[in-house]
Amino acid sequence: MDDNNMRLLLCFALLTLSNLSFATRNDRPIIGVLAQEVFKPQPDATSYIAASYVKFLESAGARVIPVMINQTEEEYTALFHSINGVLFPGGGVSVNSSGYARAAKIFYNLAIEANRREDYFPIWGTCLGFEQLAYLTAQKPVLVNTNTTSVSLPLNFTHEARGSRMFKDFPAELMKALATEDLTENSHMWSVSVETYNGNEDLKKFYKVLSTNTDGRIEFISTWEAYDYPFYGVQWHPEKNAFEWTRPYYMHSPNAVKVTFSFADFFVSEARKSFHTFESEEAARKLLIYHHSPTYTGDSSTFEQKYFF
Ligand SMILES: *[C@@H]1O[C@H](CO)[C@@H](O)[C@H](O)[C@H]1NC(C)=O
Ligand SMILES: *[C@@H]1O[C@H](CO)[C@@H](O)[C@H](O)[C@H]1NC(C)=O
Ligand SMILES: *[C@@H]1O[C@H](CO)[C@@H](O)[C@H](O)[C@H]1NC(C)=O
Ligand SMILES: *[C@@H]1O[C@H](CO)[C@@H](O)[C@H](O)[C@H]1NC(C)=O
Repeated sequence: MDDNNMRLLLCFALLTLSNLSFATRNDRPIIGVLAQEVFKPQPDATSYIAASYVKFLESAGARVIPVMINQTEEEYTALFHSINGVLFPGGGVSVNSSGYARAAKIFYNLAIEANRREDYFPIWGTCLGFEQLAYLTAQKPVLVNTNTTSVSLPLNFTHEARGSRMFKDFPAELMKALATEDLTENSHMWSVSVETYNGNEDLKKFYKVLSTNTDGRIEFISTWEAYDYPFYGVQWHPEKNAFEWTRPYYMHSPNAVKVTFSFADFFVSEARKSFHTFESEEAARKLLIYHHSPTYTGDSSTFEQKYFF
């Protein structure tokens, strides 16, 4: 073989290899984070995103686009086909009638259809986001009142946790820490009880329960993943350990901070399996959270910083 042919062959081999890695992983994931209504609207602040959710995703190698409320269905659909996953954050709005709920429903339905077509699109729900997933899957209210507004707890893992997508790559020491130390912060007054789950075929068929907790009276679901979709929910707050400091029950030990990072790393890895893309890098850049500045709110809110829109 002469030099030229050799070069051609090499070139071809490299091209094939790089196509292969391109086909299995997207190393530039962009994740949407849902905004929600503020409690008391001001002219320049009608909705917000707590900055800790943005830092959570950024810490594991994703870029973030805020998903504004009150957009048209066409706008949400275009965004859906451009981003690689969506995060429904915690908060205090209605899972039925808010702008957050409306956007969540549109993204959830689009993600169901897309994943059925083998178009991978992951969803993560934290706290209110977990409750939103439950409401969307059950298509009716399924929450019960629990005494869990301000407490960090260990997870009570089910037998299914070990083989789950979420936990299968977690190191054994971290699983042990999660099961024995108070590393998962709960800030919710509503929960999906184990009893409700067991009595609801829609939830039972859809979600595999990975951990439970109890308020001493009611056993509730603290972590689940969908059987057939890359949808994940935690009733507790992985992002707070590393990024929120306003309450004494937010944990900051080395293991607590590993918890934040490990869950972020897991979800961002899921987003790297999505190949949705903007028509250009420029079109993506226009919408990134980098255009907004977080505001210090640590003296009046549980959040250190929020993005207001
Ligand atoms: C969203 O729409 C609702 C109902 O029309 C309105 O009350 C609210 O102010 C809007 N919020 C934002 C952030 O646009
Ligand atoms: C959801 O909201 C609608 C309109 O706001 C209301 O009519 C309906 O009763 C609510 N449903 C539930 C289950 O809360
Ligand atoms: C709620 O739980 C806390 C501990 O997290 C406990 O101190 C308090 O007594 C409980 N309240 C009720 C009404 O059970
Ligand atoms: C953990 O869950 C199991 C199964 O539901 C239950 O029997 C057990 O009491 C729970 N343990 C704790 C510490 O909540």
